[in-house]
Amino acid sequence: MTSSRTTPALTPDTPPTGLDASRLHPSVCDPVMDSMRLLSETAFRHPEAISFASGRPYEEFFDFADLHRYLDRFVAELRARGVPDQRIKRAVFQYGPTAGVIRDDVARVLATDESIHVDPDAVLITHGCQEAILVALRGLFTSPDDVLLTVSPCYVGITGAAKVLDIPVEPVQEREHGLDPDDVAVAARRVRAAGKRPVACYVTPDFANPSGHSLPPAARRRLLRVAETEDLLILEDNPYGLFGREGATFPTLKALDRSRSVIHLGSFAKTAFPGARVGYLVADQPVVTADGTTRPFAEELAKVKSMVTVNTAGVSQAMIGGLLAETGYSMRAATRGLADLYVGHLELTLECLAEHFPPAAHADHGVRWNVPTGGFFLLLEVPFEADLAALERSARDHGVAWAPMSMFYVGDGGTRVIRLGYSSLTREEIREGITRLAHFIRASTPPRPSASAGAGEAA
Ligand SMILES: Cc1ncc(COP(=O)(O)O)c(C=O)c1O
Repeated sequence: MTSSRTTPALTPDTPPTGLDASRLHPSVCDPVMDSMRLLSETAFRHPEAISFASGRPYEEFFDFADLHRYLDRFVAELRARGVPDQRIKRAVFQYGPTAGVIRDDVARVLATDESIHVDPDAVLITHGCQEAILVALRGLFTSPDDVLLTVSPCYVGITGAAKVLDIPVEPVQEREHGLDPDDVAVAARRVRAAGKRPVACYVTPDFANPSGHSLPPAARRRLLRVAETEDLLILEDNPYGLFGREGATFPTLKALDRSRSVIHLGSFAKTAFPGARVGYLVADQPVVTADGTTRPFAEELAKVKSMVTVNTAGVSQAMIGGLLAETGYSMRAATRGLADLYVGHLELTLECLAEHFPPAAHADHGVRWNVPTGGFFLLLEVPFEADLAALERSARDHGVAWAPMSMFYVGDGGTRVIRLGYSSLTREEIREGITRLAHFIRASTPPRPSASAGAGEAA
């Protein structure tokens, strides 16, 4: 008699256990989560294509020798502060404090560069800005009725993190020149009228990804007033803020924040290097705990982080810590040359576009673009659907890649718009890339019967 407890042997023909996609968390199969993968796959299939698709920093200056020097500098700096070698070793080699070992250094840089004056306890060092986003959302959103407002179009990392955490998102559409703070108030009221609670609004006030827009100072102040009157927190994401023309950047929302309405999210990915995966958040909102003590929100969020990544890698923090010491604790000063390079790339991209698509002949070619004042991105409007199929044609037949803007919208939008990221390219690649892009656009543009009507419109 065969025992019913006998386990059948696995053979090479045993079908694998299937997982039904409909029973997985919805974020796993959501198109938002796939957008970065789809862009990378296009790049992988067409490695010869010049790619305007990414927001990678310029890599010509990366140097292995820097890594060793930063590490040595970090150790020397701690020794100079009287920290015993045993503790320095632990900071680099061991599991470390969840909140981070370079909080004081980051607080010092924020004071110098941004006039953000906070206690280091209000700083949490994270595994890139992306983790800061995730941790902040987890700490703030408690019920399915808690809604995140976000400017749209926006960085996919915010909508993706909201998806992972089941947080409903209400878009606040950018206008032609960027966000209008009054629209945030309208969206907050709309959410309340639907019986839900608007908790926070995500914005990138400086050289936004993807639009390149920046919020003028008066609008920043208005946004802070809206946050107060609508009882909203602002999630200010600021990876690109230093990359404007010299002396032409605006104060961050956090620097203007008098009511602790702003949680500031930062990154060393673009100012230093993304391989370190070091970011941070500043959350100085006082939280009164059950035992009656008051602690900055960042310290409470550290508990969430401890269950996500335990702590940010000590080696990475040491490298960034050493770099900060080397810069005299000013990334603004240290990245001035890099900022000039990016502004130069932006200007060159704009010049090349104007050569191929003279603004005065807009009615003939149907192409126009916005003119950001810094950052990594600009938007290009084209007279056809700029979707993934078009991207494939562009990369395969014309050797140039870009990002479809529809990927960055909450809901519909951006179907005829391209995001051009010029940060990682050389000047030669930008010239050649825009020439190829112009060929692709011409090849994809349907014939325009009344081509000369309305000529003279500015881009
Ligand atoms: C607006 C924005 N926020 C956050 C990030 C993620 O930064 P990190 O690489 O530090 O996680 C990016 C990366 O491109 C970004 O564009």
